[in-house]
Amino acid sequence: MALLEILEYPDPRLFTKAQPVERIDASVQRLVEDMAETMYAAPGIGLAATQVNVHRRVIVIDVSEERDALLVLINPELIVIEGERVSEEGCLSVPGIYEPVRRAARVVVRATNQHAEPFELAAEDMLAVCIQHEIDHLEGRVFVDKLSQLKRSRIRARLQKRDRVRASA
Ligand code: NI
Repeated sequence: MALLEILEYPDPRLFTKAQPVERIDASVQRLVEDMAETMYAAPGIGLAATQVNVHRRVIVIDVSEERDALLVLINPELIVIEGERVSEEGCLSVPGIYEPVRRAARVVVRATNQHAEPFELAAEDMLAVCIQHEIDHLEGRVFVDKLSQLKRSRIRARLQKRDRVRASA
């Protein structure tokens, strides 16, 4: 297994739309393992392949306290979207930024796991939010894009300043 580099906003590669996985082979299983390891090490509760510069429809999530309930979503599709909820979100690609975002409160997602088994999962609360957040990544969308223009430009400025400090260090 290997830790993967996580792209940081506003890296333009984060705005790439991911392609469906046609066959779940050893390379996809390897990607899932590396993504899970990268998510746990970060640590984070979700990671989309887009964030590690692999533009295929693969997501890993673990919202459990014990960090022992890995959920793998390959080619995920939201088949039910219900209600509304505003919660504070963060993102491994936007380090240090947490902002309230409005999303559906409940979803049902249809996907395939790393063993090529199709399934459907009903989710609410943090898991529903996380699934929507990660699917957005596959569409080339970062949660920052849902914020006001003013907040977005402040976040860009803050992250770009941090990049300059890092480059000169
Ligand atoms: Ni994210």
